[in-house]
Amino acid sequence: MQFELVQADITTLNVDAIVNAANNSLLGGGGVDGAIHRAAGPQLLVHCRQLQGCATGQAVITPGFDLPADWIIHTVGPIWQGGSAGEPALLASCYSSCLRICEEHQLASVAFPAISTGVYGYPTPAACKVALSTLRNTNSQSLNKVILCCFDADTLHCYQQLL
Ligand code: APR
Repeated sequence: MQFELVQADITTLNVDAIVNAANNSLLGGGGVDGAIHRAAGPQLLVHCRQLQGCATGQAVITPGFDLPADWIIHTVGPIWQGGSAGEPALLASCYSSCLRICEEHQLASVAFPAISTGVYGYPTPAACKVALSTLRNTNSQSLNKVILCCFDADTLHCYQQLL
């Protein structure tokens, strides 16, 4: 699995799937969730209304609608509560759940935002470490490109320290 580090708006990436840092309702929000719903168009919300939400640490796939990406994998990260409420394991589960869906759909490329590091307050250095160790320890037959999509320079620097 090859990692690619980019600083970009994830909604512009032409990959098989982009990952959305959603909330449990899957009905949209701010941050990357808001950007993805805006770029995918109103059909995404119509589709998500038919789903039964998503538990923290889990993931669900929907079509990408108006996005360049064919699919959106929605996952719900943990809200940071200081680090001793199971947040690291839940965040790791987000990444592994998304990879499992990529495998099930035989996807070759996927882009991840820095899940939970915005509104959900997870410290970026710790979150990037969990992300990378989970992605590195999960082997995938179908994926040949995993993009770590950073929206800001701080996140990019965190990953650069680790890669
Ligand atoms: N492309 C890539 N990354 C982005 C984009 C974008 N267009 N917009 C924001 N980000 C980055 C943020 O800078 C942050 O690094 O995504 C990361 C995750 O931040 P949030 O989007 O705030 O997600 P999260 O911290 O997981 O909080 C999820 O916020 O938007 C609501 O509905 C969402 O309730 C949920 C919560």
